[in-house]
Amino acid sequence: MSPPVFSACSPRADRRQWLRGLAATALASGALKAAPAHGITLRFSHVVAEETPKGLAANRFKLLLEQRSGGRIQVLIYPDAQLYGDHDEMQALQLGAVDLLAPSLSKFGRIGFPEFELFDLPFLFEEVADVRRITQGPLGKRLLARLSQQGLVGLGYFDNGFKQMSANRPLLAPADFVGLRMRVQASRVIAAQMRALGARPVTLAFSETRRALASGVVDGTENPVSNFWTQRMHEVQTDLSLTEHGYLGYAVVTNQRFWMSLAKSDRALIGQALREALAFGNLIADTQNDKALAALRAAGTTRIHTLTDGQRVRLAHAVEPVHQALANRIGLQWMDELRQALNQRLSG
Ligand code: LMR
Repeated sequence: MSPPVFSACSPRADRRQWLRGLAATALASGALKAAPAHGITLRFSHVVAEETPKGLAANRFKLLLEQRSGGRIQVLIYPDAQLYGDHDEMQALQLGAVDLLAPSLSKFGRIGFPEFELFDLPFLFEEVADVRRITQGPLGKRLLARLSQQGLVGLGYFDNGFKQMSANRPLLAPADFVGLRMRVQASRVIAAQMRALGARPVTLAFSETRRALASGVVDGTENPVSNFWTQRMHEVQTDLSLTEHGYLGYAVVTNQRFWMSLAKSDRALIGQALREALAFGNLIADTQNDKALAALRAAGTTRIHTLTDGQRVRLAHAVEPVHQALANRIGLQWMDELRQALNQRLSG
């Protein structure tokens, strides 16, 4: 794997060379190897560890699909950004160097779908059931359908869970964030959230985060505990504050050309295995985060802080302006629909 780079994008002049490099990496890693005779090989790349909700859901998908197809369809999984990371996985998918990805919903804004950043609005969802009102309703379906504009097919949503904040100090009040450089995903909403708290957002790929924390390039970050634990961030962060301030979920995407090249019956087989794998991922997501928290407590490296209701209310208050300030970026119509869908929880 090439050493991490901290720049968020490649200069234009280097683009052709970079794309050649992308294909070469894929070849060298065996990602473009031929399918089994008369069979299909699906290459599924993701950036997290196997012992996370996403890693386990991907492995379940492989198991189900290979069993049901009698081995005719093979799934090769590349976890932990082994093959592609945040900077290049979408391009790799569009180029056909990989067939399936499951990026976080926060990573679609950067490729031209800022409406996906509605999922990043802080203190918007009280529980995962609220997220379901969006992902399983017309709004969620329309969001996935929009991906066809970039030659992608959105195959489904699934959860990790709620994010927590870490740093080398407790983060319990807005004043605690002032001056901190906080690693964020490439989402303007998350960046605005950090600014509203007085911190400086620094966009970095997930695979670069632990190293950036260890070397002091950034001071803190946010993620659900399963990601924090499996990336060994606890070795480089003294404090984890259980803020539960935002949601982290994923969309599984494939390349439209590739998808339509498959027989209808294979699309149905893959779709069914995926639906079951995502349901499995949703089922175990909380448990994985709970297990990670228990492991973290047992490791004793990191102080864990539970916020009082009052502390959460004050954090929520500090980031409230983000909803209004980013409404134009997300799109006013999407925001209206979002509010309507969430209001049903109050009336329903
Ligand atoms: C991150 O980049 O922080 C996460 O979205 C990684 C992931 O895919 O869970």
